[in-house]
Amino acid sequence: MAAPMNICVLGGTGFVGTALINRLAQQGHWVRVPTRDAALNQALQVLPTVRLQRANVHDPRVLDRLVEGADAVINLVGILNERGRNTFQRAHADLAAKLMAALKAGQVRRVLHMSALGADVNGPSRYLRSKGAAEEHVRAASPHADFTIFRPSVIFGPGDSLTNRFAALLRLSHGWLPLARAHARFAPVYVGDVADAFVQALHDRATIGQTYELCGPQVMTLEQLVRTTAAVAALPCRIVRLADEFGRLQGAIMQCLPGKPFTLDNFRSLTLDSVCAENGFARLGLERHGMMDVLPTYLAPNTAATPLALGS
Ligand SMILES: NC(=O)c1ccc[n+]([C@@H]2O[C@H](COP(=O)([O-])OP(=O)(O)OC[C@H]3O[C@@H](n4cnc5c(N)ncnc54)[C@H](OP(=O)(O)O)[C@@H]3O)[C@@H](O)[C@H]2O)c1
Repeated sequence: MAAPMNICVLGGTGFVGTALINRLAQQGHWVRVPTRDAALNQALQVLPTVRLQRANVHDPRVLDRLVEGADAVINLVGILNERGRNTFQRAHADLAAKLMAALKAGQVRRVLHMSALGADVNGPSRYLRSKGAAEEHVRAASPHADFTIFRPSVIFGPGDSLTNRFAALLRLSHGWLPLARAHARFAPVYVGDVADAFVQALHDRATIGQTYELCGPQVMTLEQLVRTTAAVAALPCRIVRLADEFGRLQGAIMQCLPGKPFTLDNFRSLTLDSVCAENGFARLGLERHGMMDVLPTYLAPNTAATPLALGS
């Protein structure tokens, strides 16, 4: 086993972070996790080498202290919907710039950065543009930073807000689902495989300066993704494919609802297929799981999460 490292994980309390930090803790690494609310993630609090710490990561002085003495920093902070003005810019691009400055000041070189497929400063949505700007800040820091960037397609697994959300919607609506961009293509990737990619990069210096696209083995449309979810969860599924003008209208209306279940910006992100041009897992020497390997372990009726879903 590799020597224990001191690792700071920004955005570590979320869906991907929880899977990744479990692996890091299993390997004996010391993990510092800043969060806006330390009380929220009980699952991480019980891990002996993990320390959750209430902190405002947007304050440069706080960031300087957080990364001090770290062997590596991982940035997973991300939002899918804006809450207020310019929150994509703040959470993605501005934070990446501040983090790279803090790493330079603290002479911390190693950084793993979570982006998304389609991230591009000229992309169709504010989400993708801010993710693209964040990548540019990370790359611009290369003289003093050993970075690796990951760009996953949509991520599934226990606790996701993808298959679990569709299952909840189908349950609520007795199977009826008006779906925008039903033909948009994805390659859903298992959260455990994404976590493995990060762990592999931490231990492999050949990943420095590289960007890895992370996709699952199957490309499917959004409609097929929902139908697969419904089949595994044994739910009725009657999809109404929305033409783009109605999809846009759906986003405009639903972004006014509490929790913003769908927004115009989400619609614009969906105008781009989320599929890989290369197999990042193969470059990392890693295997990946298909949806049907994992979905039944947490979505099938009367199924408790199994060790595959939680740890592997
Ligand atoms: N899930 C996917 O399908 C998917 C696909 C492609 C890319 N990604 C990227 O993967 C990363 C992790 O995604 P996830 O699904 O794990 O997200 P998540 O479950 O929503 O977790 C997001 C994390 O970011 C932190 N965070 C959110 N807003 C913040 C803010 N304004 N300031 C500071 N921290 C904030 C949260 O920390 P606290 O609440 O503890 O403060 C939380 O730990 C994100 O960068 C996301 O864009 C995800």
